[in-house]
Amino acid sequence: MSGERAPVTLPRLAEMKAAGEPIVMVTAYDYPSARVAEEAGADIVLVGDTAAMVVLGYPGTEQVSMDEMVMLGRAVRRGLDAPLMIGDMPMGSYEAGNELAVRSAQRLVKETGCQAVKLEAGGTSVERARAIVRSGIPTMGHVGLTPQTANALGGYKTQGKTAQGAIELLEDALALQSVGCFAIVFEAIPAAIAAAVVEKLEVPTIGIGAGAATAGQVLVYHDLLGITTGRSPRFVKRYAELHEAMVGGVGRYVEEVRSGAFPGPEHGYEVEPEELSEFRLYMEQKDGISSQASWAWEPLP
Ligand code: KIV
Repeated sequence: MSGERAPVTLPRLAEMKAAGEPIVMVTAYDYPSARVAEEAGADIVLVGDTAAMVVLGYPGTEQVSMDEMVMLGRAVRRGLDAPLMIGDMPMGSYEAGNELAVRSAQRLVKETGCQAVKLEAGGTSVERARAIVRSGIPTMGHVGLTPQTANALGGYKTQGKTAQGAIELLEDALALQSVGCFAIVFEAIPAAIAAAVVEKLEVPTIGIGAGAATAGQVLVYHDLLGITTGRSPRFVKRYAELHEAMVGGVGRYVEEVRSGAFPGPEHGYEVEPEELSEFRLYMEQKDGISSQASWAWEPLP
């Protein structure tokens, strides 16, 4: 799965959609997760603001700052070669105006080396997306459940469940496409609604809890690997149970240090016997001198 891969570009994503080749997106937040995504063959790596919860321990995505996203993004960049890297615009970095949105997007691109940015929701975000696209930065939209504005949506809830909700979703997606978004994330949307909306769009859509009709899928790295604990949203499929494996590994280390089983001779370094004897002799002499006189701290000949 690893090896030389051609870099994933925007035209390549459009080609994949046209050919019905599924686009695989995964989040990453540091160098090791980026290496895993790279070697596993992901097409797109999103430095998602889910970092707030899965990496930084905040209660929601609202708390993560631009400085934190930049630090995480720089680490991801060092681990990626082929996948398209997208930087998520954190809450507060774009909503207040087009100028702020462009400045924030430019900061993400310049300081992390991401090739595109993502922002959430329709409404005023459509104008922000237009401004960022016009500044020359590829932009991904995100509709349905938009965690940054989850409070306004009544919580982390499936979106587009009513005809009116589905109409709004369709209009938001069309508007984001019309201002030049190269792709759109569909989060927590009934599969039938997502499938109908996807039909009306030309740009690739990437689903998370939106059924199988989208051009691609995205999952959060820590969710799919079972690093996150507690209840997961229904759309998460766990492909590994790493939290248990990690607690087990660290637990065995704790036990072995306490029991003296670790470290063993194989974990240490050798010294030449003559060097050791000379060193011991030095110590013996030094001990002899110091027990004879407290002032005798002369260097040995
Ligand atoms: O921040 C994130 O990880 C996301 C994905 C869930 C799409 O926005």
